[in-house]
Amino acid sequence: MNQKLKRIAVFTSGGDAPGMNAALRAVVRTAAHYEIEVYGIQGGYEGMIDGNMKKLEVRDVGNIIQRGGTFLKTARSQRFMTEEGRRAAYETLKKFNIEACVALGGNGTFTGAELFFKETGVPIIGVPCTIDNDLYGTDYTIGFDTAVNTAVEAVDKIRDTAESHDRLFFVEVMGRNSGFLALHTAIGSGAGHVLLPEKETTIEDLAQSLKKVGKRKKLFSLIIVAEGNPLGSADAIAHEIKSRFESFDTRVTVIGHLQRGGSPSGYDRLLASRLGNAAVEALLDGHKNVMVGLVSQQIKHTPLSIAVKNQKEINLDLLRLAEMLAI
Ligand code: F6P
Repeated sequence: MNQKLKRIAVFTSGGDAPGMNAALRAVVRTAAHYEIEVYGIQGGYEGMIDGNMKKLEVRDVGNIIQRGGTFLKTARSQRFMTEEGRRAAYETLKKFNIEACVALGGNGTFTGAELFFKETGVPIIGVPCTIDNDLYGTDYTIGFDTAVNTAVEAVDKIRDTAESHDRLFFVEVMGRNSGFLALHTAIGSGAGHVLLPEKETTIEDLAQSLKKVGKRKKLFSLIIVAEGNPLGSADAIAHEIKSRFESFDTRVTVIGHLQRGGSPSGYDRLLASRLGNAAVEALLDGHKNVMVGLVSQQIKHTPLSIAVKNQKEINLDLLRLAEMLAI
């Protein structure tokens, strides 16, 4: 290990995810173990540009492992997308004598980090934090498990009304470009259908399958709709289905940002603790622009450029399972 590292910075960026605080705690305390100083940057790349950062002590990250959101705050920075913004960010790091960074976030965060590393040579280690689970190089991202649990709990509640009123419910979950959250929610909640960004489908397909359900005298149904599916919003799909099957009593629920909040699950806390720790150790081992991940329970290092390329594919066996069990 390169024991020469004396001072690093950590920040959270992009959409918040449950478990970010637990990962920050692990970064700060692992660094303390190796006698490395940690500066916390407020508001992601925005704070890096504006020099909004302060030293974090081990007690600053006490009593946060159980909290959702991120105590360092987060942002989707437009300014960091410009060369000028990144230059200003670099000046801040130089001013504070920061030798390397740990970035907690998802696709946008790591795309920026990769560019920044190429332009400045400042080593950056990514810790995958997003409810979307759409990063290659880790089986699960921090926040995904909690979000699935939140969505499943919500669908359980909707099911009560769906069954009591014999209604057809369209439940929209997040996932602009990926259907992991929708697929896991569909299986976990026993939903009848799931619409994913990764799967081409038509209203006709959906209508045919609803007809079959009707023939089986199933009186209610739950359809999980991923935000980025090709047929549009849950509202638009429900409207279209209602125009074909007037007798269906359709309703729409958009779970929205409820999925991003709340106390992280035990699994997310463990994952965040492991990956926060692995990020600091990766820097000590000389890694420069990789994402740390957990694959089959082993810590893996994946170049940031590969982690973000949307290479992580939906498990088609799970889709088959969802369809097979929804009879
Ligand atoms: O990337 C996480 C995510 O929650 C996506 O699932 C969703 O499409 C997006 O962020 C929403 O972003 P915002 O909170 O900026 O509206």
